[in-house]
Amino acid sequence: MSPHAQDTVPTGTNNWWKEATVYQVYPASFYDSNGDGWGDIPGVVEKVPYLHSLGIDVVWLSPMYDSPMHDMGYDVSNYEKVLPAYGTVKDVEDLVEACHQRGMKLILDLVVNHSSDEHAWFKESRSSKDNEKRDWYFWRPPRYDEAGNRMPPSNYRGYFAGSTWTWDETTQEYYLHLYAKEQPDLNWDNRATREAIYNSAVRFWLDKGVDGFRVDTVNKYSKHTDFPDAPITDPKSDIQPAIQMWCNGPRIHEFLREMYDESFAPYGDVMTVGELANTPNPKNVLEYVGASAKELSMVFHLDIGHIGMGPSLEEKYIFHPWKLTKMKSIVEKWQSFIEGTDGWTTAFCENHDNGRSVSRFGSDAPEFREISAKMLALMMVTMTGTLFIYQGQEIGMINAPRDWSIDEYKDIEGLGYYREAERRSASGDDPKRKERIMDGLRILARDHSRLPMQWDGSEHAGFTTGKPWMRAHDLSKEINVKKQENDPCSVLSFWKDVLRLRKKYRDLFIHGAFEVLDYENQETFCFVKSRDDRQALVVLNFTAASQPFTQAEKTVGKSLLVSNYDSSCLETLGPFEGRVYV
Ligand code: GLC
Ligand code: CA
Repeated sequence: MSPHAQDTVPTGTNNWWKEATVYQVYPASFYDSNGDGWGDIPGVVEKVPYLHSLGIDVVWLSPMYDSPMHDMGYDVSNYEKVLPAYGTVKDVEDLVEACHQRGMKLILDLVVNHSSDEHAWFKESRSSKDNEKRDWYFWRPPRYDEAGNRMPPSNYRGYFAGSTWTWDETTQEYYLHLYAKEQPDLNWDNRATREAIYNSAVRFWLDKGVDGFRVDTVNKYSKHTDFPDAPITDPKSDIQPAIQMWCNGPRIHEFLREMYDESFAPYGDVMTVGELANTPNPKNVLEYVGASAKELSMVFHLDIGHIGMGPSLEEKYIFHPWKLTKMKSIVEKWQSFIEGTDGWTTAFCENHDNGRSVSRFGSDAPEFREISAKMLALMMVTMTGTLFIYQGQEIGMINAPRDWSIDEYKDIEGLGYYREAERRSASGDDPKRKERIMDGLRILARDHSRLPMQWDGSEHAGFTTGKPWMRAHDLSKEINVKKQENDPCSVLSFWKDVLRLRKKYRDLFIHGAFEVLDYENQETFCFVKSRDDRQALVVLNFTAASQPFTQAEKTVGKSLLVSNYDSSCLETLGPFEGRVYV
């Protein structure tokens, strides 16, 4: 099962991770082996045969480190320890072993832009101004306004709807945190900090046999450390969007190259996939993923996840209707930017930070959810790059029901926006904001992907025998693994089939050049994948109505390889129909 180079792809340019199908496991919600309501590592080990039967090559395990869990483990208090609810270091070693036995690999999530405020490093740093680790984080004195009121060192808005600066009484200074106040930013400008990160977070786990990392917030480690104020774009607020102060900063490539040279390269062909935000220019993305840059294997470009979101940080959770040309332009851009270069790309449409793709890009209405899940599967498996699937995507899991109240939502980011909106609505500043944010969260919240994995139709979706940390979906009796496993027409069986086809036609699907046809069409997405003199034609109807197949003549000389319909007529595409011709 493990990926290997084919004759059609020149050796030397085909690292093992290029043709891999990666499956993201969100440990809290995957499988609870001991009934305490939390998923755990032994639960993942138990499901490795399931992942193997699906056709997975690499498991990406979201953070499982010790953590006070303010941001679901993206706030690490000890890189060398596992959250007790998830298990032990030994359990992770067992998981490595279970994967390797089946020819699969395991990658972890490397979260090193910030640590938890409960990490020993931060505790020392905050203890006094002359502590040896004071400079491992960013500490700055306050400013004062004309009336003498204390003000943060700069006016930045963080990702979780508050200032990036928190006042610390002990030493009478502010510290920087792009995310929650419990996630202080590590100071990468300090060489000793970097060395500690490499040792504790990277080498410690590579020594245990893991095969690589998904690298969290990969372009935010180098800041403009003079912290100038950001321009005022939201005059009603005292905090302003300021991502240019920390994305792709002055020393970022120096840092990543150093981490590569000192921590990845000595372990061989380690797979690294960076989470790359706010880097619209492909030229700048290549600086991270060109093989000659020696920084990262590949990155996630987040545009696809942003479809339907507001254009700015403040507007993120205000739903904006979108057109299919938006998706086409994003897919085309990040599919084709590596052509003729030594870079590599990724294909994904779900992760733990986004709503479910069926609910966002297909339809979760009962009559369409299976067919649209399969249509989206066809889009994903025909894409160039390393393919990533998120847990539950393979059975067509959908967003939480619309009538769930805010009390069912647990995510620190969504709740931050909701509380802020409550205040702004109550103060009369923006009376409708609360409703607009709630409406956006119903589609876009990070919570939707964090519901328990639906294993069977029993209580709590068979995820736990106890009380799940997050409510299981009301439809888990209808959408679950058990029901789909022996049904040849299920979404799960479809994924298994098309993942095999992806490998069979790897030269076209994984390595082919990408070209959109009939770009202006807002109903159907049609594209060609080609390599040498061979071609695949993919056509996807993104609507719940029948549509004319405008490119039907392009099928001449090709035959239908796979479709999500049993039978169809050439010139008409049924609702959410998808076909691949080769
Ligand atoms: C990344 C993670 C997200 C987390 C954030 C802070 O964006 O994907 O879940 O909240 O980093 O670590
Ligand atoms: Ca458990």
